[in-house]
Amino acid sequence: MTIKATTRHEVALITGANGELGQGLIREMSRNGHDGILALDLNPIDEDISSRCLETFQGDILDQTLIARITSRFDVREIYHLAALLSTRAEFTPETAHKVNVDGTYGLLKLAIDSSSWRGDRVRFLFPSSIAVYGMPDAETKSTWGPIKEHEWTSPTTMYGCNKLYCENLGRYYSRYYRQLAASEDSPSIDFRSIRFPGLISADTVPSGGTSDYGPEMLHAAASGEPYPCFVREDTTIPFMAMPDAVHALLRLAKADASQLTRTVYNITSFSLTAAEFRDQVVKHFPDADITFAPDQNRQRIVDSWPATVDDSAARAEWGFAPDYDLDKAFSEYLVPRIRDRYQSS
Ligand code: SER
Repeated sequence: MTIKATTRHEVALITGANGELGQGLIREMSRNGHDGILALDLNPIDEDISSRCLETFQGDILDQTLIARITSRFDVREIYHLAALLSTRAEFTPETAHKVNVDGTYGLLKLAIDSSSWRGDRVRFLFPSSIAVYGMPDAETKSTWGPIKEHEWTSPTTMYGCNKLYCENLGRYYSRYYRQLAASEDSPSIDFRSIRFPGLISADTVPSGGTSDYGPEMLHAAASGEPYPCFVREDTTIPFMAMPDAVHALLRLAKADASQLTRTVYNITSFSLTAAEFRDQVVKHFPDADITFAPDQNRQRIVDSWPATVDDSAARAEWGFAPDYDLDKAFSEYLVPRIRDRYQSS
């Protein structure tokens, strides 16, 4: 009888598994037949999600013992590190946000580099970044600049934006420059790939803690018959995307041929619109919606520092990014029917 040197199951580790993006990603991966999903979240993982996973862990990404327990049992080939404190929540507890968003990511990058070294093969590390890494200096620049490129205006004003920008750089470092002064040329490295997402809108989950959440909140409030005072001005413009496009983009980037990728960070977008246009879409489908505008100056300043549109030509050219949903299709074929179902059946 031959005893195998390792008996660890090969897995894709997903942190923040119970969040908006995590749930969408796990559903899609399991639909595609993935049988090695390992889910980690601070909160209990929904039954519908955990039934699609090989195993789930409830715990903190900062818990080194938990992370070590995971690596002792599983061969981590791929990491989707989605856990984070989003932009509004992070401003209330900036130091905690730094711990979760930076120290947490650093711990997982170390896990990835160790795992790459054991495997002799680069672990793939997918990292959702955000339009929050940008910091437009003023309203005039925001309205006249045009689609922003990845290297432009990267002076974020939020703790979350600073955290994401730094972790993008840390990922690039572990991908390309780790132990660059070592005598041996075969230092381990990881295969780090990141997407700067616009505001995401899910039909299945209500967002929590973000500053782009006014869009999805309007919609969920209308569908459930609640009034909604929107916390930004009517002319506020940022890019948005329907959740299925965000999930497909992550999976498409994960599969892309490394030789086609010239960078580690990519913008993507679907549609940009003002908060008033967002309201108009909601009212078109829910004529009784009670949406008013009651701007919160502090949250407004944050959204004003984010770009109105982003240039995603690199993602389109290098790994074939192309969203399925434009504004009308997002509302009429994805958001509205699913949200109606959700609130009618609850
Ligand atoms: N949409 C997120 C937020 O508003 C940013 O990635 O915090």
